[in-house]
Amino acid sequence: IKPNYGDSCDSKNVVASSGCMIVVSNRLPFVLQRNKDGNLIRKASAGGLVTAVAPVVINGGGLWVGWPGIHLDDPNEPIPESDPNDITPTAGLKSEKVVAVQIDKQIFDSYYNGCCNATFWPLFHSMPDRATFKGEHWNSYIKANKEFAECTIKALQSLPKNNNEVPLIWVHDYHLMLAANWIRQAADEQEMKCKLGFFLHIPFPPWDIFRLFPWADEILQGMLGCDLVGFHISDYCLNFVDCCQRSLGCRVDRKNLLVEHGGRTVRVRPLPIGIPFERFVELAEKAPRVISTNQKIILGVDRLDYTKGLVHRLKAFEKLLENHPEHLEKISLFQISVPSRTDVKEYQDLKEEMDQLVGRINGRFTTANWSPIRYIYGCVSQDELAAFYRDAAVGLVTPLRDGMNLVAKEFVACQINVPPGVLIVSPFAGAGETMHEALICNPYEIDGASEVIHRALTMPEDERILRMNYLRRREKLNDVNYWTKSFLSAMGSLMSQEDHDDVG
Ligand code: G6P
Repeated sequence: IKPNYGDSCDSKNVVASSGCMIVVSNRLPFVLQRNKDGNLIRKASAGGLVTAVAPVVINGGGLWVGWPGIHLDDPNEPIPESDPNDITPTAGLKSEKVVAVQIDKQIFDSYYNGCCNATFWPLFHSMPDRATFKGEHWNSYIKANKEFAECTIKALQSLPKNNNEVPLIWVHDYHLMLAANWIRQAADEQEMKCKLGFFLHIPFPPWDIFRLFPWADEILQGMLGCDLVGFHISDYCLNFVDCCQRSLGCRVDRKNLLVEHGGRTVRVRPLPIGIPFERFVELAEKAPRVISTNQKIILGVDRLDYTKGLVHRLKAFEKLLENHPEHLEKISLFQISVPSRTDVKEYQDLKEEMDQLVGRINGRFTTANWSPIRYIYGCVSQDELAAFYRDAAVGLVTPLRDGMNLVAKEFVACQINVPPGVLIVSPFAGAGETMHEALICNPYEIDGASEVIHRALTMPEDERILRMNYLRRREKLNDVNYWTKSFLSAMGSLMSQEDHDDVG
């Protein structure tokens, strides 16, 4: 089944047809923090997922279940309303519509840093040597998922009863692969109707990798509690279907992506996520210049994560300077590495390795007037980011493995200069499967990767224009609102606000 590309739409006008939507995700769409007076305040999240899904939840009177980013001593401490000046999409999400899941700090740590980030993250990115398998982490994952499931059931119970309405529960990502089945069981026992959907934001690995997880069957059973299981691309769907057949012995239909389990048929669908395209275009139009150099900029923007291929990328850049001295003093690699999961050792080690490698390459090539690498370890504002994306000659997106990779999409959205730059993308990212006009670069082959960067730097203008036009057109059509709409449509739950008002 090919992903269905169509017209972009505005999720402000989209509501779930047959009832409201409960979103369940590890993180709430904002984090709670204490201000200097000790009062809780919301800090909004700017992610594309939040932008697209929040309006659907808010418009339909739904709820959001998630971890608030802080451990509260008093679990009954009220969630604050949003700041009156808040203009982000979650501003309209009233505190009564938010369920902040509270989990014992130790259990949360072992669930999040242990099972999620030290087991599932490396395993699902096909890096089993980096994964740890500990019974204690798995037990914490079970406890945490039970807590999320119980909170979701309470949320479901709190909804006004209307026999014509079937609420839609949308569970997100690898943190919550067990929760759906428990939600279904409890809803069945209590005779509460609901539809359940799941979306995995990271890759789903092939069977020979997935089976390394000692409790693989339980994961599949958890996900099969849903009516629909969505992944970014067809390969991940086929891997999942294959695992269900080989691990659980389910009857499957590979052509139509169906899995039979427990007397039900579960639909599996490729639903490639997009970005809020127009928002990035607007940011790029307004952002002042932040790069003051005449050198051509090669740009990398990533969470500091070993899946992103950053070490390979720096080595490919070093090779380029070695093999193509004509670029010396004419180009510069801007690498923005956003700190992430800093409590996990693999991430601490990567930071050390990157610091040393940047130092070594700069030490080797820097002259009185030029340094080849500018390395930012930290966060940049959305405005600055848009300016970097807009003014870069080359966008370098070379993960070793990546579910989709939104940086590739944000880069093309912001490429409004004429003539534009060039996107380089790894075939091992979901984006590499779908952004056909990008230059494809195998990050593992350092020599080859350096030649692809050279090709991008020397690409004729007309070819750059042609490729970028196609890339931008596709991302504009298949933006994040289109993704939300596709999910609702695959759930059989799509209706516009006008239709909803007519029925209501
Ligand atoms: C990936 C995952 C998300 C996660 C994000 C940031 O994109 O798919 O679910 O939120 O990384 O990671 P963090 O551990 O900080 O939530």
